[in-house]
Amino acid sequence: MSSDMPNTDPEGLDGVRMTWNVWPRSKLESSKCVIPLAATISLIKPHPHIPRLPYAPLRCKTCSSVLNPFSRVDFTAKIWICPFCYQRNHFPPHYNAVSETNLPGELYPHYTTVEYVNPIPDSNSNPFNQFRSKFTSPVFLFVLDTCMIEEEMEFVKSALRRAIGLLPDNALVGFVSFGTQVQVHELGFSDMSKVYVFRGSKDIPKEQVLEQLGLGSGYQKGRVQGAAGAGAGAAFPGTAITRFLLPSSDCEYTLNALLDELQSDQWPVPPGSRPARCTGVALSVAMGLLGACNPGTGARIIALVGGPCTEGPGTIVSKDLSDPVRSHKDLDKDVAPYFKKAVKFYESLAKQLVSQGHVLDLFASALDQVGVSEMKVVVERTGGLVILAESFGHSVFKDSFKRIFEVGEQSLGLCFNGTLEINCSKEIKIQGIIGPCTSLEKKGPSVADTVIGEGNTTAWKMCGLDKSTCLTVMFDLSSNDRSNTPGAVNPQLYLQFLTSYQGPDGQSVLRVTTVTRRWVDSSVSSEELVQGFDQETAAVVMARYASLKMETEETFDATRWLDRLLIRLCSKFGDYRKDDPSSFTLNPSFSLFPQFMFNLRRSQFLQVFNNSPDETAYFRMMLNRENISNAAVMIQPSLISYSFNSPPAPALLDVASIAADRILLLDSYFSVVIFHGMTIAQWRNLGYQNQPEHQAFAQLLQAPHDDAQMIVGERFPVPRLVVCDQHGSQARFLLAKLNPSATYNSAHEMTAGSDVIFTDDVSLQVFFEHLQRLAVQS
Ligand SMILES: *[C@@H]1O[C@H](CO)[C@@H](O)[C@H](O)[C@H]1NC(C)=O
Ligand SMILES: *[C@@H]1O[C@H](CO)[C@@H](O)[C@H](O)[C@H]1NC(C)=O
Ligand SMILES: *[C@@H]1O[C@H](CO)[C@@H](O)[C@H](O)[C@H]1NC(C)=O
Ligand SMILES: *[C@@H]1O[C@H](CO)[C@@H](O)[C@H](O)[C@H]1NC(C)=O
Ligand SMILES: [Zn+2]
Repeated sequence: MSSDMPNTDPEGLDGVRMTWNVWPRSKLESSKCVIPLAATISLIKPHPHIPRLPYAPLRCKTCSSVLNPFSRVDFTAKIWICPFCYQRNHFPPHYNAVSETNLPGELYPHYTTVEYVNPIPDSNSNPFNQFRSKFTSPVFLFVLDTCMIEEEMEFVKSALRRAIGLLPDNALVGFVSFGTQVQVHELGFSDMSKVYVFRGSKDIPKEQVLEQLGLGSGYQKGRVQGAAGAGAGAAFPGTAITRFLLPSSDCEYTLNALLDELQSDQWPVPPGSRPARCTGVALSVAMGLLGACNPGTGARIIALVGGPCTEGPGTIVSKDLSDPVRSHKDLDKDVAPYFKKAVKFYESLAKQLVSQGHVLDLFASALDQVGVSEMKVVVERTGGLVILAESFGHSVFKDSFKRIFEVGEQSLGLCFNGTLEINCSKEIKIQGIIGPCTSLEKKGPSVADTVIGEGNTTAWKMCGLDKSTCLTVMFDLSSNDRSNTPGAVNPQLYLQFLTSYQGPDGQSVLRVTTVTRRWVDSSVSSEELVQGFDQETAAVVMARYASLKMETEETFDATRWLDRLLIRLCSKFGDYRKDDPSSFTLNPSFSLFPQFMFNLRRSQFLQVFNNSPDETAYFRMMLNRENISNAAVMIQPSLISYSFNSPPAPALLDVASIAADRILLLDSYFSVVIFHGMTIAQWRNLGYQNQPEHQAFAQLLQAPHDDAQMIVGERFPVPRLVVCDQHGSQARFLLAKLNPSATYNSAHEMTAGSDVIFTDDVSLQVFFEHLQRLAVQS
């Protein structure tokens, strides 16, 4: 519950946050709460206090949920009662020693999250273990676009060389390049490069890819056991796939030589045309190649794309340069002729990749769009990474790309073959999940009729996941009257999240998080409900839900929808006298929420017309997969002010915070802006910071840079760093995020009975005035 949570880490051990930490008892009451019941979970966030238990979990024989601290235990009868279905379960014989003073890890009251791992036998004495470590080596299949100018080619090649140098020796590496055609490079030869060429104009079924690569007929026999190819030269001499996927230590030389020789696509490009680029077929061929690996193997396709697909399936624009890439306006008016077909193609690719258990990571670097919007479905459903940058030479790409291959503290903790299953008290129904996963279509009693995001299931696949992956689960309540069902007596509800995955070290882990919350009868009193509201989580959930609706519902008006919800929320939970706006106040549990909604309305998530569809897709993928604190910054940036007479302090996100003698540091997640007031900029231009008597100024100038570096160094994707001065052209990066209090002050036009607060870019003050007036209306 919110009051129990330490402020420093609102997610705690469990990584779970909820819009409501106290739940209304009925579906009707819950609909009156306006903000839906939802939980976000950081699935595998590391925490020093999560115990690792070296044995298999005990499961309830009826509902298969896992033994947890909320199970009631009868120590004398050696029985535990499942909190989900009330089944009585006998402990197995090896739990005979269990007593009040001798609890297994999973029954400790504080261990609401535990991880079950299989014990690793001593590696020297067990030959199987040697095999095991090979079994789990990760596979990296690089897929490189070559329709690029020389300069970009050099940038991307140097990033690749660095990446290959960072890969662990046992990682398996493959290489595919594409332009007008697709080239699959055989890395097994060091003295002679051998290439298999595929036409880019037509999709090629997986079987045909395997056949053409010589993996077809013998492929059932030579099927690679996961990454058994690690050192496979010796261990599995006959395995055909090892011609294409080699341990990095064995192919580093070949790969570097190949990169040295690799040229931009040589296919002639007529004047006024785009190059013929067959991204869709290239990805399809890469997927086919990985089809020779076992399902669930930790394999990822790392696609580096420098422009739009113009050839074959997945095409997003014609080759004619006078034909622009689709914009939001085109999509809105349904005049983007390639869009739906391309999305359909990538949906089928996603489906196939998910069935293989493999991941697509997309690195798009170009001045124009490359089709991130169309390819989004593959990245999201497989749990891949995505970076959007202007150039392969830009730090946003370069530094982010490097992070993927880093180990130790800086590591992203890339994991594979994840499955999430959710169990809940039987009054609770699951509508679906928003975030990087795919529904496994596993029906069950807790599946809701209405679907939000990936739904119709109690189990989801995440081919790729990492330590920052956060999912949003949308709940509903059963419409049955609960007063005469057995569960009605229990004042607590329970949720259990079971995440199984393969860690970066190859270890198979099952992480079990069990949480409980209290039911309240909100028709009697809403006080407890109010105390349990988590406004930051609610803001992020609403942003995710609104973005999803914008993508999936054709005439959805997000601003109007959010305004209506906010007015209803304020009417229900505000304190006021009817028809007296000046009497309106909000409980502190809600008081930050209207401002979040104000900033959400102005954000890139709702004002999509200021961006390209690729940018919007990128922003939304990040919004949906990051934790609540990061997602909140995307909606409502943080602003810090630096000045001579006071230590750095948070400033209002308002143009009034700008002052000539101040430096501001804005963090809007995707960019970090250092903004110098006029006077500061002048002094800096005069070089005062270099004079010994102006040391304080030098320090003032340096401080925001140090803080910005901290943010840039920790974040993935690496944000764009903008350093600018008041009245400079780059200042727009700051101004666009600030409340325009000074420019709009007196807009009082409002139609009576309207449910829209205001349509223009109003100031926060005007927004609040309208909100109060509408909320107190009888
Ligand atoms: C959110 O993620 C960032 C890293 O991406 C991490 O530094 C931060 O601690 C996380 N927040 C919580 C509450 O876990
Ligand atoms: C992948 O996960 C599934 C479901 O948890 C499991 O049955 C399968 O054995 C795993 N595959 C590998 C290669 O680890
Ligand atoms: C718990 O999850 C399992 C697997 O998804 C499912 O079969 C079972 O019906 C669930 N039980 C409850 C009470 O939700
Ligand atoms: C959910 O499943 C039902 C039938 O089981 C199906 O008719 C419906 O289309 C599915 N909905 C979604 C969104 O997949
Ligand atoms: Zn049970």
